[in-house]
Amino acid sequence: MATLRHSYIAGVGHYVPSRVVTNAELEPLMNTSDAWIQERTGIQERRWFEEGKDTTANMGANAARKALEMASVEANDVQMIVFATLSPDYFFPGSGVLLQRELGISNNCPALDVRNQCSGFVYALSVADQFIRTGMYDTVLVVGSEIHSSGLDKSPEGRGVSVIFGDGAGAVVLRPSTTEGQGILSTHLHAQGEFAEELIVKEPGSNRDNRADYVVANKQDLYPYMNGQNVFKHAVVRFPQVIKEALEQNGYQSTDVDMLIPHQANLRITQYVQQKMGLTDDKVFSNIQRYGNTTAASVPIALSEAVQAGKIKRGDLVCLAAFGSGFTWASALIKW
Ligand SMILES: CC(C)(COP(=O)(O)OP(=O)(O)OC[C@H]1O[C@@H](n2cnc3c(N)ncnc32)[C@H](O)[C@@H]1OP(=O)(O)O)[C@@H](O)C(=O)NCCC(=O)NCCS
Repeated sequence: MATLRHSYIAGVGHYVPSRVVTNAELEPLMNTSDAWIQERTGIQERRWFEEGKDTTANMGANAARKALEMASVEANDVQMIVFATLSPDYFFPGSGVLLQRELGISNNCPALDVRNQCSGFVYALSVADQFIRTGMYDTVLVVGSEIHSSGLDKSPEGRGVSVIFGDGAGAVVLRPSTTEGQGILSTHLHAQGEFAEELIVKEPGSNRDNRADYVVANKQDLYPYMNGQNVFKHAVVRFPQVIKEALEQNGYQSTDVDMLIPHQANLRITQYVQQKMGLTDDKVFSNIQRYGNTTAASVPIALSEAVQAGKIKRGDLVCLAAFGSGFTWASALIKW
């Protein structure tokens, strides 16, 4: 059998809404404090979308345009869209087709939606990578985009969850690598449905005699619920585990990593992982301070900023890793 080809990230871009919401702005709404939020999560501010301007699909499209430009790829040359989000524009259809329309892609390429929350982007990247490896497609657009702020409980009851999440989008263009040893070396995906309800938005669920009536009477179930301590406990185990799995498969050690881009879940989780892997500050990228947790958008936003800042160079060993609702977790090891 011929050796499968690798894919590489030919372009990356991100978009965040212009509205900055500081911790101080949340204080009167949620009976919280800047000190509490910073101490527990590292977050200083996040972005909230503007109704009538930003949508999950058009934020994704804004990020995608930048990624396409960097890759020197025309929108109509995209052969597949993989769109990761937990906050789609509609219950159905998925946001992938809306992004296709928004970008003016008229070639009838497939649009696949991925529902894996904080691990969504790494899952989506892995899906796209498989299509390129097998030779089915040469150009795949992978997008992560989220609008959390319209679905958060902004009262004191919601403070344990609502201070964490923010809005934003990121995208990459995958193409077949033409350089031996360059590109996505491997991806690793996991899930443990036993903990499905530990981080959840329950409604609108389909298992009701009448969804609309149920939602009207149980409005609080439209808000996210999180067992924060349990999520934390599993995250600090799964992150190092799935990173180690990627490194071992490719014959590397943690000290070989030039840049770790973890899902921006919580700065404390990232610091724990960094310490466990023995990585110096310059080898771990964090921007949660400015954006909060943007779920499926967090890894591509961070990757895009790291590339823009010149922190990732050709030949660097880059590791993406994520953990979140499901529970799901995933990693991707890339020779840049
Ligand atoms: C969410 C998280 C920061 C909460 O921290 P914690 O130490 O577990 O806090 P607890 O939920 O035990 O609450 C501790 C106290 O702070 C209070 N509290 C919770 N949220 C608060 C807020 N935003 N502001 C002020 N006080 C708050 C609680 O009411 C509780 O008060 P009490 O002791 O008087 O009852 C932490 O659990 C966490 O980071 N978990 C992982 C979350 C995550 O990464 N999610 C994304 C996964 S992809």
